[in-house]
Amino acid sequence: MKGNRGAVCGDGALFLISAWALETLVAHYGDIIKIPCNRGAPKPANLIFTKWKYVRKFSNTPNLCLLIIDDSNITVMATDEYQGRVSIAPDFSLLISSAALGDQRKFTCMRASADDIFEYPVHVQVLKPPSVVEILYCSWCQHSLICEANPAANITWYKNDQVLVADGKEVIIITSVNKHHETGLSSTSSILRYSASKRDVDANFTCRASNLTSAPVSFLITYPPQKVTLHVTPSGPLKEGDNVTLRCSADGNPPPSRYIIHLKVIMVEDSYTLTMVKRSHSGEYHCSPADNSSLLDSQTLEVLYLDISLNPSGRVDRTTGSSLAVLLQTNASGEPTVSWTKNKARLTAEPQFDQLKFSDSGLYECEVAIEGLIRRSSFILDVQGPPVIRSVDENQEIGGKHKNLSCEVEGSPKPSIQWSVNGTKEITHADGRVTQTLTLIPKENLTVTCFVKNHLGQEARSIDVSSGIFKRNATGTSVLIDGADAVGAVVGLILCALTLAVIYWIYWTKSSQGSWRTGENGTTEEKRKLEEEQKAKV
Ligand SMILES: *[C@@H]1O[C@H](CO)[C@@H](O)[C@H](O)[C@H]1NC(C)=O
Ligand SMILES: *[C@@H]1O[C@H](CO)[C@@H](O)[C@H](O)[C@H]1NC(C)=O
Ligand SMILES: *[C@@H]1O[C@H](CO)[C@@H](O)[C@H](O)[C@H]1NC(C)=O
Ligand SMILES: *[C@@H]1O[C@H](CO)[C@@H](O)[C@H](O)[C@H]1NC(C)=O
Ligand SMILES: *[C@@H]1O[C@H](CO)[C@@H](O)[C@H](O)[C@H]1NC(C)=O
Ligand SMILES: *[C@@H]1O[C@H](CO)[C@@H](O)[C@H](O)[C@H]1NC(C)=O
Ligand SMILES: *[C@@H]1O[C@H](CO)[C@@H](O)[C@H](O)[C@H]1NC(C)=O
Ligand SMILES: *[C@@H]1O[C@H](CO)[C@@H](O)[C@H](O)[C@H]1NC(C)=O
Ligand SMILES: *[C@@H]1O[C@H](CO)[C@@H](O)[C@H](O)[C@H]1NC(C)=O
Ligand SMILES: *[C@@H]1O[C@H](CO)[C@@H](O)[C@H](O)[C@H]1NC(C)=O
Ligand SMILES: *[C@@H]1O[C@H](CO)[C@@H](O)[C@H](O)[C@H]1NC(C)=O
Repeated sequence: MKGNRGAVCGDGALFLISAWALETLVAHYGDIIKIPCNRGAPKPANLIFTKWKYVRKFSNTPNLCLLIIDDSNITVMATDEYQGRVSIAPDFSLLISSAALGDQRKFTCMRASADDIFEYPVHVQVLKPPSVVEILYCSWCQHSLICEANPAANITWYKNDQVLVADGKEVIIITSVNKHHETGLSSTSSILRYSASKRDVDANFTCRASNLTSAPVSFLITYPPQKVTLHVTPSGPLKEGDNVTLRCSADGNPPPSRYIIHLKVIMVEDSYTLTMVKRSHSGEYHCSPADNSSLLDSQTLEVLYLDISLNPSGRVDRTTGSSLAVLLQTNASGEPTVSWTKNKARLTAEPQFDQLKFSDSGLYECEVAIEGLIRRSSFILDVQGPPVIRSVDENQEIGGKHKNLSCEVEGSPKPSIQWSVNGTKEITHADGRVTQTLTLIPKENLTVTCFVKNHLGQEARSIDVSSGIFKRNATGTSVLIDGADAVGAVVGLILCALTLAVIYWIYWTKSSQGSWRTGENGTTEEKRKLEEEQKAKV
């Protein structure tokens, strides 16, 4: 019997064949197709062999054998697309894995018994969801997509979930229903011709048939770069010391892979960071794709700069009465704004000093600004000179016996202050002036002298202090109401006190300076008076 097989497989016409009504079996794409032999009827008792074969109608090859089963021995004959895909079930059903559209054909189960040969053909139909199966590119036509639906169905095209309506120009849809030669079944294929442009680069195209939707595809749209851009970050005004990055980009799909940035004379690629820009970096820059220098973009960088020079600066020592010229020079990329402060308090104008006073001492700061670029400079002015007594005053609590004598002094370096009498002292500072207050209870009328000095000079001033008790009358004038007896007691005591004061004065003066400085710091009248009084007593 085995010798017979080849002939049987090649052409069944040798035998008497009982024809059966064509049976159709529907399978799903990708699934395993299970084709029962004779609708699954039990095998006849005198079965010699079972054979599965299939037909290729429009080819010259005869019917092709897939498998032969005899004596429980299975021989796989398939050599073509069915190699490795066919197997047999225990009931002799043919199993074909990974159902494909090409499997839509007639498979025949042939049973040979001692008496007869029966054939049971089965028509296989494979259902496949619609899908975009091919993307065509051609140099002469517009981009096309082909969608196939099996079984035949109405196909609708979508671009980003929007129905595409054929307009015969930009959107052309050609639908055709194809009948399978072998199966007589039909499928629909739809060709979408779409004039894709730049705006469609990321668009998703899908096709739908009945309730099935294909996976999205995009057109591969290529177009040459048409616009190149030189990006400058940060984009605002640049100041000296800033870091600025230049980056080139262009449209086009694909975009240029390389760019050239022209930095004045140097050429760099793609992106470049200028660190700590200087005014010399100001100018025009341009960039272009490395392979097309006729496309370019340019940007003008303007680096703001600001140089200032302040004269004087640092610490400045001057003597009272002298002058000081202040010169602030600026060199900037525009007109800067200048503001001045003295000891952090705003000044309305640039300081200028014709005749320096102690009160001119202080920290002078200028701030020069131009569009966010700020420069500062400062100087500390110390006006020095012999001390000057601004006032010597007497103050008495109304109705009290205490007298407060105050000596207000200006001077730099800070002068020391001495009184010609002992008492309780207290020092206060205000506006660069030093005030020393002496509190005492005078037993008699006194002339009290305030002595001030620093290494540049000295001064003294006296005040007459009565021992009486004062009261203010209605107009605010002090009126002596008591103490005439105490004062009038001994005139000699006053002279004695005066003498003591003068001796102390001379001693103190000698101990510090050696001699009087006159003229520039101005000898006070008090001093002269004291000297005269001293002579008179001698
Ligand atoms: C099955 O076939 C093979 C090869 O044709 C053969 O060697 C083997 O003996 C057969 N087995 C049976 C049980 O017939
Ligand atoms: C397609 O749609 C038309 C009408 O729009 C309808 O006549 C036809 O039967 C549909 N075909 C299928 C396969 O659904
Ligand atoms: C296109 O589809 C991809 C993935 O399927 C998705 O990431 C993308 O957002 C879609 N684009 C649009 C424009 O819908
Ligand atoms: C499509 O419709 C059929 C019957 O109408 C249903 O069985 C199937 O699940 C649907 N498929 C999807 C993807 O909705
Ligand atoms: C450079 O770009 C311009 C403008 O897109 C284009 O006209 C030109 O053909 C391009 N040249 C090259 C060499 O690609
Ligand atoms: C500029 O870059 C330099 C070096 O990378 C860095 O030291 C400096 O802090 C940067 N300046 C600014 C203003 O970011
Ligand atoms: C100001 O700065 C520029 C640029 O550095 C320089 O050329 C010019 O000589 C400067 N002018 C003055 C007055 O310093
Ligand atoms: C005098 O000085 C004392 C102590 O400093 C103070 O308490 C008193 O108020 C002062 N009197 C006058 C009138 O200034
Ligand atoms: C001040 O008091 C001291 C001691 O307390 C004394 O030596 C000095 O002579 C007194 N001076 C005057 C001017 O009375
Ligand atoms: C207050 O005293 C002054 C000076 O002694 C005097 O001129 C004035 O008239 C007095 N005023 C009154 C209201 O007593
Ligand atoms: C003391 O001074 C008061 C007022 O200044 C005066 O009235 C009195 O006569 C003086 N006494 C003596 C003893 O000079």
